[in-house]
Amino acid sequence: MNTWVRIAAVLILSLSFSESLIAEEESVFTPDAARGAAIFGAICVHCHLISYEESRMGAPGLKGVLERYDAKWLDQWIKSPEAFAKKDETAADLLGSNKHGLKMPTFPAMQNDQKRADIIEYLKTLKGDE
Ligand code: HEC
Repeated sequence: MNTWVRIAAVLILSLSFSESLIAEEESVFTPDAARGAAIFGAICVHCHLISYEESRMGAPGLKGVLERYDAKWLDQWIKSPEAFAKKDETAADLLGSNKHGLKMPTFPAMQNDQKRADIIEYLKTLKGDE
């Protein structure tokens, strides 16, 4: 093969490769309620059920939670209740309000931006008036 043809082929290959990488990254960051529900079922459900009465160890039920806090607030709370409580009064009041002394932990898995976006997308589906 002619050297220039080879260089051109490599360039075209690497271009289409990086394009597919970009496309993948975009789709990864589209919040997905179904994915969020799966993560919720793996981690959060150990303490949170949806309706208040059914929640475990007095953790709040999360029905209608988007009517109580906005998505940006929830993102910071879910990332780290402890770190957020140091700079936000509402979070500081909430952390430690549990009557059994249970505090919501900081989860390593919740340091992932996409996972939090997915969970919040799922929480949006839990309307308070149903
Ligand atoms: C070990 C128990 C536990 C787990 C697991 C847990 N939480 Fe919590 N969560 C709590 C407690 C307890 C509170 C109340 C505040 C406090 O005392 O820390 C709370 C509060 C909240 C609130 C505020 C609710 C309100 O109405 O005020 C949200 C939102 C929340 N948690 C989301 C989540 C999400 C999302 C997950 C999963 C990634 C999760 N929690 C996992 C214990 C837990």
